[in-house]
Amino acid sequence: MDFLTSTTHLHITAWFIGIILFLIGALKPNKGLHMALRVIYLLIIVTGGALFIKAMEFGQNLNYGIKLILGVLVIGMMEMILVRRSKDRPATAFWVLFAIFLFLTLFYGFKLPMGFHFLV
Ligand code: HEM
Repeated sequence: MDFLTSTTHLHITAWFIGIILFLIGALKPNKGLHMALRVIYLLIIVTGGALFIKAMEFGQNLNYGIKLILGVLVIGMMEMILVRRSKDRPATAFWVLFAIFLFLTLFYGFKLPMGFHFLV
């Protein structure tokens, strides 16, 4: 399964498409788009999970554990926001959590050993 872990590009592509679909769906709730986004969640988890398994070589298990949990929380917040939007219920608290978790996930992801290093 080398293609999943030789670079981080597949993972980045998956979460990037996911966030775009999520933002479109949050502006204007749409059932089909929500289903498509759920497929993208799986791709994010599979590509992230493959990187996670590979990461065991680097011995930063705590940091990788935190990255994994943060990534799952971002997905959880996206799902909560879309479900609450579709039921016309307020989602403000979830938007705040989404922003915090997304920031931390990007920070950890880019800081960890594989792939890009924008943050020294
Ligand atoms: C929407 C959710 C997610 C976002 C925004 C996100 C973001 C990122 C970013 C920015 C990177 C760094 C890529 C690079 O340095 O080239 C990354 C890497 C990674 N992600 Fe995610 N991720 C998400 C979900 C997940 C999930 C669910 C998992 C685990 C199942 C996961 C596991 C990983 C792992 C193990 C890495 C490699 C870290 C490294 O050494 O650079 N991610 N992710």
